[in-house]
Amino acid sequence: MKGIILAGGKGTRLRPITFTGAKQLVPVANKPVLFYAIEDLVDAGIVDIGIVVPSDFPMGREQIMAAVGDGSTFGARVTYIEQDAPRGLAHAVGICQAFVGMDKFVVFLGDNFIREGIAEQARAFRDGAMNTILLLHRVPDPSGLGVAVVQDGRVVELQEKPPVPKSDLAIVGIYFLDHHFFEAAQGLKPSARGELEITDALSKLIAMGCDVRPEMVTGYWIDTGKHIDMLDANRLILDTLETRIDGTVDADSHVSGRVVIEAGARLVRSTVRGPAIIGAGTVLTDTFIGPFTAIGDGCAITSSEIAHSIVLDSSRIENIEERIEDSLIGRNVDLRKAATRPRGHKFLLGDNSSLELR
Ligand code: G1P
Repeated sequence: MKGIILAGGKGTRLRPITFTGAKQLVPVANKPVLFYAIEDLVDAGIVDIGIVVPSDFPMGREQIMAAVGDGSTFGARVTYIEQDAPRGLAHAVGICQAFVGMDKFVVFLGDNFIREGIAEQARAFRDGAMNTILLLHRVPDPSGLGVAVVQDGRVVELQEKPPVPKSDLAIVGIYFLDHHFFEAAQGLKPSARGELEITDALSKLIAMGCDVRPEMVTGYWIDTGKHIDMLDANRLILDTLETRIDGTVDADSHVSGRVVIEAGARLVRSTVRGPAIIGAGTVLTDTFIGPFTAIGDGCAITSSEIAHSIVLDSSRIENIEERIEDSLIGRNVDLRKAATRPRGHKFLLGDNSSLELR
């Protein structure tokens, strides 16, 4: 069985963070979200992995290729497959036909995230006679997602972002497929958003008489496309941390709960309340961090409080009196309160930044 990870797309909903980087590399608990997908595949015994990268977004493509390399650090063999433009998920999978051959395969959307992994479903699919397994998750309002209708243990109908969903079963972005998919993906017409929809190809599979089975995901499922979803995923992963303190904690600092302090990080008169992770070389001075907060590498945070947030590498935060919360702060950000007068706010914010003062 082979794996395909779709890592195209420009991450418009995560701007400005994604102006300078691939959305799949935004870290959750200090690890790029894409790495969780690779690890889930490898844990399920799927080591031949094709990653679809965007050739019209060279920066994102290069960053992904540099971060993942040939996949050997994950115990995988990675092949990169270039998609010329965002023509939809069915197109992205379609260009992987030569890579897949006649093998069964699993398609993993690079920004999807499930807690329980896919090992069990992979086993069932490898041994089973079905053509497709769709992972489904019950959500109160699936109108912004793919939706499945299940009858007698089979998926009988699919809808893509229906205004009036026929069920509360959302389609998770992890699909177990066989070669019939490529037949079904032929001759698709672009949807209203101008893309070849994977859901349309799957509907054709059903019409062709293929055996499409549902499998419920009962644990968490997060599509990390938006900043608030990233924070949810961060919370989820941080909650599973095992305490490890490789950095230094001075006598006036306190660490409680599940906390990782990476090598070279320093706490000076600071408190970290877990779950939280502090990246390598980061210095916290007179600061309170946590809970549910991931601070990247090489940051300097002084006289500030941060909770429920993600701070990327090399950012400086100083003298912010009010607690920073529910925030996603990019790389090399400089955030500080000046002691001088006149008082007032001074901003240098990138396009699509969002700032809420309360
Ligand atoms: C895509 C699929 C949708 C699926 C979702 C899961 O939507 O088209 O059927 O439910 O991924 O994340 P998109 O993220 O492209 O809007």
